[in-house]
Amino acid sequence: MVTGGSRGIGRAIVRRLAADGARVVFGYRQDRAAAEALTRELDGVVAVQADLADPGSVDALFAPVGDGLDILVNNAAVNPPCPISELTAADFDRVMAVNARFPLLAMQRAATLLRDGGRIINISTLNTAMPAPGIALYAASKAALEQFTAVASREFGGRGITVNTVSPGATDTDLLRATNPPEVLEQTTSFTALGRIGEPADIAAVVAFLAGPDAGWITGQNLRATGGLLI
Ligand SMILES: NC(=O)c1ccc[n+]([C@@H]2O[C@H](COP(=O)([O-])OP(=O)(O)OC[C@H]3O[C@@H](n4cnc5c(N)ncnc54)[C@H](OP(=O)(O)O)[C@@H]3O)[C@@H](O)[C@H]2O)c1
Repeated sequence: MVTGGSRGIGRAIVRRLAADGARVVFGYRQDRAAAEALTRELDGVVAVQADLADPGSVDALFAPVGDGLDILVNNAAVNPPCPISELTAADFDRVMAVNARFPLLAMQRAATLLRDGGRIINISTLNTAMPAPGIALYAASKAALEQFTAVASREFGGRGITVNTVSPGATDTDLLRATNPPEVLEQTTSFTALGRIGEPADIAAVVAFLAGPDAGWITGQNLRATGGLLI
């Protein structure tokens, strides 16, 4: 199960997990054309439309899963940039609902479906360690997600289920381009040890490692995959 699989990092994760042999169900909110293109591209992959701000979306997303699950990737998120001076209560509720409440409810549901040795991987951001103006709700919601991850790793560990965070740095997606002008991206590249912006496949590779058998002894961690933007 991968949320936000229609575009960006989520789509790369769907492609990578499918290539590694997983039967993937992914969620999306509105980009039906992109979701359908991916289901045409990959045999056996199932797409589910649901807005994660709606608490009923947990039932919708998990409906095709049946009675067994191996991997949950909470990837979908929103980041509507807004200075603190202009934030509203409605902004708070929406960002927290999509970025923190849904992943928590999805972990709760997954815990009833995951086979022993299962994997939960939550996608956060380097911004919880590297704050920037205009992202108070985004950073706070991801900080909550990181704490849910840490606590869940203790609660689910007895069954061999690992729960980890992957925190990407700047990664070339619609979200990055919508929230950063080109000059900021140039500056970001110059601050990144590996000298480029990340590609979605870079993050998918880290997720695939944590989802695979070689990462069975890693849990409760926050793996910052930033190409050396944050050291
Ligand atoms: N890109 C970066 O530089 C970067 C850096 C750090 C962390 N991240 C994290 O990486 C993850 C993926 O980011 P991205 O850059 O790939 O984002 P993106 O290009 O904006 O894609 C977001 C995905 O999430 C889905 N989605 C958004 N809101 C939703 C909602 N309310 N209900 C259901 N689905 C929803 C979108 O569906 P639709 O296609 O239908 O809209 C889309 O599939 C996020 O958790 C983000 O915080 C990204």
